[in-house]
Amino acid sequence: MSATAIAYSNIALIKYWGKADSVLNLPSAGSISATLAPLRTTTSVSWTRSEHDTVQFNGERSTGRDLQRIVGFLDLVRTSYDLEGWRAEVRTENSFPTAAGLASSASGFAALALAATAAADLDVTMTELSALARRGSGSAARSLHGGFVRMNAGSTAHPERAVASQIAGDDAWDLRAVLALTTVGRKKVSSTVGMNQTQDTSPYFDAWIASVEQSLPAAEEAINTRNFQVLAKLAEASALQMHASAIAAVPGVLYWNGVTVELIHLVRELREEHGVDVFFTIDAGPHVKIFTTPEYVDQVDAAVRKVPGVVETLHARIGGPAHLVDGESVLIGSTNR
Ligand code: PMV
Repeated sequence: MSATAIAYSNIALIKYWGKADSVLNLPSAGSISATLAPLRTTTSVSWTRSEHDTVQFNGERSTGRDLQRIVGFLDLVRTSYDLEGWRAEVRTENSFPTAAGLASSASGFAALALAATAAADLDVTMTELSALARRGSGSAARSLHGGFVRMNAGSTAHPERAVASQIAGDDAWDLRAVLALTTVGRKKVSSTVGMNQTQDTSPYFDAWIASVEQSLPAAEEAINTRNFQVLAKLAEASALQMHASAIAAVPGVLYWNGVTVELIHLVRELREEHGVDVFFTIDAGPHVKIFTTPEYVDQVDAAVRKVPGVVETLHARIGGPAHLVDGESVLIGSTNR
């Protein structure tokens, strides 16, 4: 009744921002992401007959809201798969900073969904796993797959549509990411709170959702044809449109700091004045995620590190699917069933 799973983080190129249903966690629009290695969560789950669920996160016992969020997800696993009466011992570790806008909930809930179902020896398809992970965090549905991934919108009439599928595998296109961390510590406004506030109060929310539906097929085409320039344009527009809708909420949801803005200018300068293949994207935090090609990684990293206020840079490449492990060996690589 134990299993260990690894899932990689992912960064959306066409963003998800808005829920059609907050209980089922159905995204109002689709999204497209790149799975990123080596940023990963490793999670072990053991189902036991003890009284309570226990969660250890990076070696420390979780309490309060962090614990509640995991227990809520375990409750869902219990009711969905007839595991009433079983309690879980969860041990989870992130290889990167948590809850700072680096998509830790994406890799976290993907790894938890896979480990929890595998530990109970359940035979679940990738589509079921993706729908389960989505209930923990919308972006987690995408982290079950490697490479470039599309997540579909859902509606209360058709919740089953809100699952992720792969557009292209992790070896399809060797893009690299330089993640520029512009602060330390946890973000102040969670993505769920920021999204709800945008949806409830921003006059630009509907325009934002309409714009996503237009970007999705174009971004998918850019990935399939490896067209960096087109993807760059679409990804930057998606990030800025998402943040514009959030900033227009009342009160405005503003995740950026001054360094975020400096980095946007830098990326544009590198592209427009130095001919570098590079684009940025920004999630629910102040960090700037910069995509480039292998030949420009060192140049981009050196330029980013010169910006005052950049705390650290992390490097990533396109990652593979979530999988089960036993020690160092991969037991089951996930498929796209
Ligand atoms: O899935 P959540 O609740 O972590 O929300 C993700 C929101 C963004 O990271 C800003 C965009 C995205 O599509 O990942």
